[in-house]
Amino acid sequence: MSARVEEKDLQSLAGEGLEVRFEGLYALQDVGLTATKGEILGLIGPNGAGKTTLLNVLSGFQPPRRGRVVCDGRDLTGSGPRAHVKAGVARTFQGVRAFGRLTVRENVEVASLATGMRPLAARRRTDLLLAEFELDEVAGRDAEALPYGMTRRLGIARAVAGDPVFLLLDEPAAGLSESESESLMQMLLRVRQERACCLVVIEHDMHLIMRLCDRVQVLDQGRTIAVGTPAEVQADPRVVDAYLGERAARA
Ligand SMILES: Nc1ncnc2c1ncn2[C@@H]1O[C@H](COP(=O)(O)OP(=O)(O)O)[C@@H](O)[C@H]1O
Ligand SMILES: [Mg+2]
Repeated sequence: MSARVEEKDLQSLAGEGLEVRFEGLYALQDVGLTATKGEILGLIGPNGAGKTTLLNVLSGFQPPRRGRVVCDGRDLTGSGPRAHVKAGVARTFQGVRAFGRLTVRENVEVASLATGMRPLAARRRTDLLLAEFELDEVAGRDAEALPYGMTRRLGIARAVAGDPVFLLLDEPAAGLSESESESLMQMLLRVRQERACCLVVIEHDMHLIMRLCDRVQVLDQGRTIAVGTPAEVQADPRVVDAYLGERAARA
C-alpha cells in the first residue's frame, strides 16, 4: 500500500483500555477514546483528571502501561512521537511559550521543512499559514517576544504545518482574552473545515467547548465519566458533580 492511500484512508484515532501510573497513582485507568476524522472532540475534567496524560499517550509521548493506541487500524502503541507524526497525529503543548531564538516565520518554516517539503514549497506553505493564523504582520519578530495570544496561534500554525489528520490541542485558549479565544475558535473551525481533519481539544472554557465541539468526553480521576454531545454531558449529573458544579461554585 502506498503512503498516499494510507493517508487517505485514515479515519480514526483510538485509545483502548489505556492505563498510565505515576508512582502508584493512576493518571489513566481503563480509558478509551475514539476521535473520528472530521469531528471536533472536546476533553474536559478537573485539574489532575488525566487529560494531558491522555493526549501524551495518543501522541506517542507517553507509553501506556496497558492498552493500545490505534490509528486507522494500525497499532502505534509505544512507537514514539515521530511514528505518530508520520501517521498524521500532531499536538500542541499546554502553556509552551518559548520557541527558541527564531523569528515567527522561521518557526513555521522549520515545521514545514520537517515534513520533508522542498524549500520553495515550505516557503509558500509558510506564507499561507502566517496569513491563516493572522501572524503575517509579526512574521519577522522573534518568536520569544510575541504576546501570549499570538504565541498560542504560532504553536497551532506549527502543528498544522505538518498537515495532520488528527490535531491534539492542550488548552489552546488558556490565558486568552475573550476576543482572542473567539478568534482562536474561528481559526480552529476553519482548520477542520478546510482540511477535514479531526481536532481533539482540552479546554476549561465551557462556553468555548460547547460551541466548538461535536462531542465531549469527560475525565475525572483518571477515568471517563461521560461521553456525548455538549448538551448531553452538560446535563449529566455525574459531570455536574465532578466538574461543572465545582466550577460553578468557584465562579
Ligand atoms: N510526569 C509525571 N510524574 C508524576 N505524576 C504525574 C506526571 N504527569 C502527570 N502526573 C499526575 O497524573 C495526574 C494526571 O495529570 P494530568 O494528565 O496532567 O491532568 P490534567 O491535564 O487533567 O490536569 C495528576 O495527578 C498529575 O499530578
Ligand atoms: Mg493538563
